[in-house]
Amino acid sequence: MKIAVASDHGGYQLKEEIKKYLAARGIEVLDLGTGSEEMVDYPIYGKACGEAVASGQAERGIVCCGTGIGISIAANKVEGIRCALCTNVHMAEMSRKHNNANLLALGGRTTETQTALDITAAWLDTEFEGGRHQRRVDML
Ligand code: RB5
Repeated sequence: MKIAVASDHGGYQLKEEIKKYLAARGIEVLDLGTGSEEMVDYPIYGKACGEAVASGQAERGIVCCGTGIGISIAANKVEGIRCALCTNVHMAEMSRKHNNANLLALGGRTTETQTALDITAAWLDTEFEGGRHQRRVDML
């Protein structure tokens, strides 16, 4: 599985931690930036990650900004993207089981690193349930 990752400056440190976690699991990473804590604009990075997944360059994506809010809004503007902002493991599991979320959004300034890694693990390891949920996803 290849995962695209992207962040603004507010999510940069968390993105770097997530990259380490993914690498340790042997998951290929496509890093779309940003590359430092220098101030940048989250809409650019949310869109880039959404487009990477929508075009098939990566199977799924993870985006981070200060809260996860702005970058998730940006990613969700891309056709075919279902980006879920998750603040706990249960939300991550449900975003996969019921929403087939293909992007995960996390807040670098609002979620502790270990919690964010636990959320990432649950999101990676939980499958979509399909069935009635597929009908609803198709309605999006
Ligand atoms: C940047 O200061 C901050 O607004 C951004 O990282 C994010 O939290 C926006 O939703």
